[in-house]
Parts: sequence; C-alpha cells; structure tokens
Amino acid sequence: MLIDGHGRKVDYLRISLTERCNFRCQYCMPEKPFSWVPKENLLSFEELFEFVKAAIDEGITKIRLTGGEPTLRADLDKFIKMIYDYSPGIDLAMTTNGYLLKDIAKALKEAGLKRLNISLDSLKPDVARLIAGKDVLKNVLEGIDAALDAGLKVKINMVPLKGVNDKEIVDVLNYAKERGMQVRFIEYMENIHAHSSLKGMHGKEILEHIKKEYEIEKIGRVGSSPAFLYKLKKSGYRFGLIDPHKHDFCESCNRIRLTAEGYLIPCLYFDEALSIKEAVERGDIDGAVKILKEVLANKPKENRWSEGESEASGRAFYETGG
Ligand code: 5AD
Ligand code: SF4
Repeated sequence: MLIDGHGRKVDYLRISLTERCNFRCQYCMPEKPFSWVPKENLLSFEELFEFVKAAIDEGITKIRLTGGEPTLRADLDKFIKMIYDYSPGIDLAMTTNGYLLKDIAKALKEAGLKRLNISLDSLKPDVARLIAGKDVLKNVLEGIDAALDAGLKVKINMVPLKGVNDKEIVDVLNYAKERGMQVRFIEYMENIHAHSSLKGMHGKEILEHIKKEYEIEKIGRVGSSPAFLYKLKKSGYRFGLIDPHKHDFCESCNRIRLTAEGYLIPCLYFDEALSIKEAVERGDIDGAVKILKEVLANKPKENRWSEGESEASGRAFYETGG
C-alpha cells in the first residue's frame, strides 16, 4: 500500500500521455506553448507499462489517462489493453475533450477502458469556439454520443467562467441529466498559463444558478473523489462540485500524477517533481518505485488556492492533466 507523508493512502495514478492538445482552452492553454516536448522525450507505452505494472503491484487501483489530449497519442487502445490484460479489475478511466472520440470510443471500450470524463463547457457553438479556440461543439457532442453508445460510463466536466458560459450552468446540467451522465462543475483554478482576463466562479455562485431552477440537497464528499456531491430533490439526480479553493479539499487527496516525460508530480498546484525517466529507460523499475515513494513522502499537505487568496499556480494543466 502507498501512503504519503501526511498519512493519506494513495491508490490513484493519473498519467498524462502528451502535453499536446488540439484545443486551446482559455483556462488551460490559450496559446500554443513556445515549444512542445520533443516526441522522443516521451516515455513509450512499453516503458510506461513497466512502471504501471509496478505501481499496480504497490497498491494503485485506479488509473486515469489524461493529457493534454490523450487521444492524440497513436495506439492508445493498445496501451489500454496492456493495462487491462495485466489487471482487469483496475478502474481504468480517461479524461478527454471528446473531439476525436467518435471514431475510437468503441475500440477504447473493447480494449478495457471503463470510464470517460469529457469536457463540455458550453452547448452554444460560438461560446464553445470562444473557449476552445476553434469550432469544436459538433464533434464533442458526437463524441459523447459515441462513448455512451459504446457502453462507457461518462461524466461531464464544465468550468464555469463569469461572462462567458455562466448562463449555461443549468443547460449543461440538464443535458447531462437527460443522458444519465453526472456533471461536475469545476472551479476555475488560477494558473499563469491561462488567459489573464478570466474570472472563475466560486462553488457558491455556481450553486446559486442551479438553485434558481432546482431545489438541491447536499450529499457530501464520497470516497476520495474531489467532487462534493449534491442532488436535485425531486429527481434524485446527482451532480458534483469540484472546489479546490475549499480548505478541506486536500484532506482526502489520494492521487499522484505522471507527466508524459516521466515526471512524478505530487500536487497539481506545486512545481515540485521528480523524474522516473532515466530509471525506467535503464529498466530499473525498483529505482522508479523508490522515486515514487520519495515523491509521496514529500507530497504537500494542501494546495494554495485557499479561499480569499486564490494564488495562481505555475503549473501548466496541459502538462499535468488537470
Ligand atoms: N481550472 C479548472 N479546470 C481546469 N481544467 C483544465 N484547466 C483548468 C483550470 N485552469 C480541467 C478541464 C478539463 C480537464 C482536462 O481539466 O475542465 O475538463
Ligand atoms: Fe486541451 Fe484539455 Fe487543456 Fe482544453 S483543458 S486545452 S482540451 S488539455
């Protein structure tokens, strides 16, 4: 079992497969970075798999593939199948913008993927274009349908932004509800790579929008999910609020992140990281596990987006996978 320096059990590994992305979301990567990591610097799927096996043996029970945009990586289904075949019981999920899903959802499901989180910030083509930097809505909606048709469990992520998509909070909730998907509203996390004019919304403000339409009831934090759950009183439909600005947000943090280049990152907020790349390339998996344990021992207690201060993080979300 993996335990961090604050006594938290860590059983959730998020793997960013690439920092590259086909979107330019205002809150994440409004401009193309000065340079991308050269492809030869990425860990290969074979190298990643060697580490993944060891991580599973150490107690990881949940793996999420992220990016950038993970569907940009060729042979994604083969990598998923490698993990699935090693450990069919593992909770294997992916976060995607959905743009390329239509053609691959079925193959991903057949390879062993169980769940998908798909970003959907607007149901209006113009607003979606404004946020993502290109005309994305049609493909994303088709991607969501394809994922549902393939039998994948789907959650929707929305980042509400003042004056941009804040009027659509209930619309996105209704869209998700009609299709049996949970929606999670994510508080915008300030970071230096985002567009400087963005104004995020606090959980309280997001809930105000929903309360105009629905009576809601608190459920609470379930397991170590970062979402605080609520339900609509009448229908029982559940939705989540991801509120990293709340003081208790980090208490149940159970995750560690690996970047496409092989850096293990203990917290989304901080710059600290150690690389397993050399160890993995040498075939020294024990060495990589040692580095994993070192990173966990030094995992920060909490982020610094705490209420009132909202300091920006220097970390790029496209590198760490959000
Ligand atoms: N604040 C909040 N959420 C973010 N994401 C990316 N950048 C940010 C940010 N600055 C989330 C998006 C997407 C996921 C990949 O990460 O909601 O769904
Ligand atoms: Fe790409 Fe996701 Fe970042 Fe948008 S939030 S730019 S889709 S990595």
